[in-house]
Amino acid sequence: MSALEDIKARIAAREAHVAVIGLGYVGLPLALAAHKSGFRVTGFDTDPAKITTLAAGTSYINYIDAAEVSELAASTRFHGTSTVSELGASDIIVICVPTPLDRHREPDMRHVVDTCHSVASILSPGRLVILESTTWPGTTDELVRPILEGNGLVSGVDFLLAYSPERDDPGNTTHRLGTVPKIVGADQGLARAAAAAFYESFIPAGTVVVPDTKTAEAVKLTENIFRSVNIALVNELKVIFDAMGISIWDVIEAASTKPFGYMPFWPGPGLGGHCIPIDPFYLAWKAREFGVPTRFIELAGEINTSMPHHIVSRLAGEIDHRFRRGLNGAAILIVGMAYKKNVDDSRESPGLTLMALLESRGAAVSFFDPFIGTIPSTRAHAGLAGRRSLSWTDVTDGVHDAALIVTDHDCVDYDALVAAVPLVVDTRNATRAVRHHRERIVLA
Ligand SMILES: NC(=O)c1ccc[n+]([C@@H]2O[C@H](COP(=O)([O-])OP(=O)(O)OC[C@H]3O[C@@H](n4cnc5c(N)ncnc54)[C@H](O)[C@@H]3O)[C@@H](O)[C@H]2O)c1
Repeated sequence: MSALEDIKARIAAREAHVAVIGLGYVGLPLALAAHKSGFRVTGFDTDPAKITTLAAGTSYINYIDAAEVSELAASTRFHGTSTVSELGASDIIVICVPTPLDRHREPDMRHVVDTCHSVASILSPGRLVILESTTWPGTTDELVRPILEGNGLVSGVDFLLAYSPERDDPGNTTHRLGTVPKIVGADQGLARAAAAAFYESFIPAGTVVVPDTKTAEAVKLTENIFRSVNIALVNELKVIFDAMGISIWDVIEAASTKPFGYMPFWPGPGLGGHCIPIDPFYLAWKAREFGVPTRFIELAGEINTSMPHHIVSRLAGEIDHRFRRGLNGAAILIVGMAYKKNVDDSRESPGLTLMALLESRGAAVSFFDPFIGTIPSTRAHAGLAGRRSLSWTDVTDGVHDAALIVTDHDCVDYDALVAAVPLVVDTRNATRAVRHHRERIVLA
C-alpha cells in the first residue's frame, strides 16, 4: 500500500494525526469534532491568546460549550500551539484562516498565503492538506498548490490536496457542524476519496463529493451569494412596502405559508459577519479575469450597503416629526452590536456603520449588547474600538431619546426597552410581542 493510500486506513483506525490551522469560528468547532471522534488533534493559531485561553480550558466563542472546550484542553489527544514545527507529525492539515477583503474591497489572501508557506515548510510525503477558508474558484489549484509544491513535493503524487468549505450558521442550534453535509472537492481521485473518508468519519450528515476544487469553491460562494441577493430583494421590498404603509414582516410571514416556490429571507439594517458582505466580492473579483459581468452581485451589494443610510434617514425623520428636533444632539441607543442574534461576533456589523453615521450627524450614541462588552479594533471603524456596552440599568434609566434595534438578541427584555425609551426604531421586528406603548415602535 502506498503512503497516500495508507492515509485512508489511518483515518479509519483513527491513527491519523489531524492539525487544524486557525482556531476561530470555523477551526475550533472542527478541532472539537475531530477530537471527539477519536483523532489526535493539534490546534495551531498565530494568536497566542487563543492558545493560552484554550489551554486554560476556556471557550472564547459564546455558543461553543465551555465543558467541551475544557474536555479538549484536558485531553492527551489535543495540543494547542503557535509553533509551526509542531505541525510536522500531522497526517491531515486543515486550513481555516480568515479570507477578508482589503482596503479596495478585493480578496486579501495574506492569511492563506502565509499559512501555505508554513505548511510547505513542514510538509512531507503522504500528507492530506485541506483548505476550508471561503475563497474564489481556482484558489486551491492556482494559489495553494504552487506554494505547497515549493519544496519539491508534487500534489497527487507526494501529497493530497482538497477543498471543503465550512457551511456553518453561527448561533444556529438546529444546524451545526455534523448535521449539514460537507462539500468535498479535489482535482485528483485519491485526494477526493481521502478527504471524503476524513469528513465522513466524524460528520454524521456525510459528504457531497464534487469533481474538483474549483466546483467546491464555487458551491460555497453560490450559497452565500444566494443569501446576499435574496436579502437585498427583501430589503428593497421593505422600502417599497413601507412607503405604501404595508409591513414587510406581515407580508413575509404570510408568504411563508406557501409550501413550495418560496422561502423566507428577512430584511434588516444591512449585512454583517465574515461571510455574506464579503464572499460575493471574491467571485466578482475573479469574474473580472474572465471579462464576465456580475450585475446581480453588485446590485445586491449596493442595496444591502445602502440599508444603514436608509435606517438613519428613517430614524431622523421620526425624531423630526415626533420631537420637533434633529438628530444633532439626540441621545441614541443602539441595541445589539453583534452582526446577528445571540452571537458574540461584531465583524462587519451594521451596528458599527450605524454608530459612525449617527455620530457624523451629531447624535450622542451609546450601545447595549450583552454579547459584545467592548467594540474590538477594526480597519473600517478604528475610531470605535474600545467603546463599551452600557449596562441594562443604563438602558432603562430614561436618558435616551430613541433606541435603534440593530440585532434581536433573545435575552433582551423588549417590553422594558419600549417602556423606557420614547421612540424605538426596530430593524428586526424584535418588538413583535410587545403589547404596551406600541405607538412608540417604528419598524424600519
Ligand atoms: N464564521 C463563519 O461562520 C464562517 C462560515 C463559513 C466559512 N467561513 C470562512 O472560514 C474562514 C475562517 O473564518 P472564521 O470565522 O473561523 O475566522 P476567525 O477570524 O474566527 O478565525 C481565524 C483564525 O485564524 C487565525 N489566523 C490568522 N492567520 C493565521 C495564520 N497565518 N496561521 C494560523 N492562524 C491564523 C486567527 O488568529 C483566528 O483565530 C474564512 O475564510 C471564512 O470566510 C466562516
